[in-house]
Amino acid sequence: MISIITFIIGALCVLCCGLENGLARTPPMGWLSWERFRCNTDCLNDPDNCISEQLFQIMADLIVSEGYASVGYEYINIDDCWLERHRGNNGKLLSDHKRFPNGIKALSDYIHSRGLKFGIYEDYGNYTCAGYPGIIGYEKSDAEQFAEWNVDYVKLDGCYSLPSDMDKGYSEFGRYLNKTGKAMVYSCSWPVYQIYAGIQPNFSAIQTHCNLWRNYDDIQDSWSSVENIIDYYGNNQDAIAPNAGPGHWNDPDMLIVGNFGLSYEQAKTQFAMWAILAAPLLMSVDLRTIRPEFKEILLNRKIIAVDQDGLGIQGRRIYKHKGIEIWSKPISPVYQNFYSYSIVFINRRTDGTPSDISVTLKELGLLNSMGYRVEDLYENVDYGVLHPHTKIKVKVNPSGVVMLKAITQFY
Ligand code: GLA
Repeated sequence: MISIITFIIGALCVLCCGLENGLARTPPMGWLSWERFRCNTDCLNDPDNCISEQLFQIMADLIVSEGYASVGYEYINIDDCWLERHRGNNGKLLSDHKRFPNGIKALSDYIHSRGLKFGIYEDYGNYTCAGYPGIIGYEKSDAEQFAEWNVDYVKLDGCYSLPSDMDKGYSEFGRYLNKTGKAMVYSCSWPVYQIYAGIQPNFSAIQTHCNLWRNYDDIQDSWSSVENIIDYYGNNQDAIAPNAGPGHWNDPDMLIVGNFGLSYEQAKTQFAMWAILAAPLLMSVDLRTIRPEFKEILLNRKIIAVDQDGLGIQGRRIYKHKGIEIWSKPISPVYQNFYSYSIVFINRRTDGTPSDISVTLKELGLLNSMGYRVEDLYENVDYGVLHPHTKIKVKVNPSGVVMLKAITQFY
């Protein structure tokens, strides 16, 4: 009896207090302005690259015309620096009148008219990180404003607030979003600010209230930044990985594939690893000028399918020794407790020559005696059906990866 009551109370609690907005059953995919375009507000001297309605319209057009929408990228998200420095007299948020002359609703309509979804940025604090008005004191009306603008995705940053207030503040704002009746993906920076303040985040609350959340530093346009993030997720995987699942994801930050800082091999590594981590795939790149080989990485359907796998299990580092790492993510189909897997081999050595890695499937934890159909996800190599005792050998370029998929066999 007690357990039935507990169950009912639990269910009611999720209904009334938790997020459960039914969104982000797989990690969100789209485009986000921050890493590439930052807080460039100088439309006078740099009209093509400043944060303006035109930039988001152009990116929305390209997401559709260049084939990104057809492989799953759907959110066009504004980051910081879209606001006027002050709220209106009625306390409402105002978008910068010069850079967004038609207002946010018009931009939202434009993006929706392209069959895409629209995301916006705010901050649980007195100011956004770049110093624009934050939501504190206006939580309810800002949530309602976002719903009126038909916003589909809200990134809520955490500058200029107390990390100790965030358990209350982030969950409260999530409830206000829910109460509007307009379903909005809720991206939180709640844990990262708490971690930096030495507070142990309450991940069960975070995954109840947020669809995704940042754990670690902002990504920068460099290989060392990507490596740091990969290391963070590997070194802390026992605490982090179990929190991911359909509706709630860890967010290692944007994809920088196609920008200035990563070589071709390194860009392949970021994309493969973000898929293994079941990460949101938010490109921050200039889609007008991206080179074809980088575009091809972002459009790789087989790797996107690993990221978007319906089981929603975040992958883990299963081997790390002398600059070689192996990462593994259980994916569907599953047959009698035997998962299928995607495996990534990374070579982080700098001795300049590809490294050979030889390993049996069994050593990778692939134990189904009926075997696995193995294919390479970047190179279109089909290895056929291999068995647990089979040794596979891959050649991995420096700072690059080999990414495989091993589908468990049924008979
Ligand atoms: C923080 C966030 C970034 C970006 C900037 C904007 O640093 O982590 O992702 O949103 O603020 O100012």
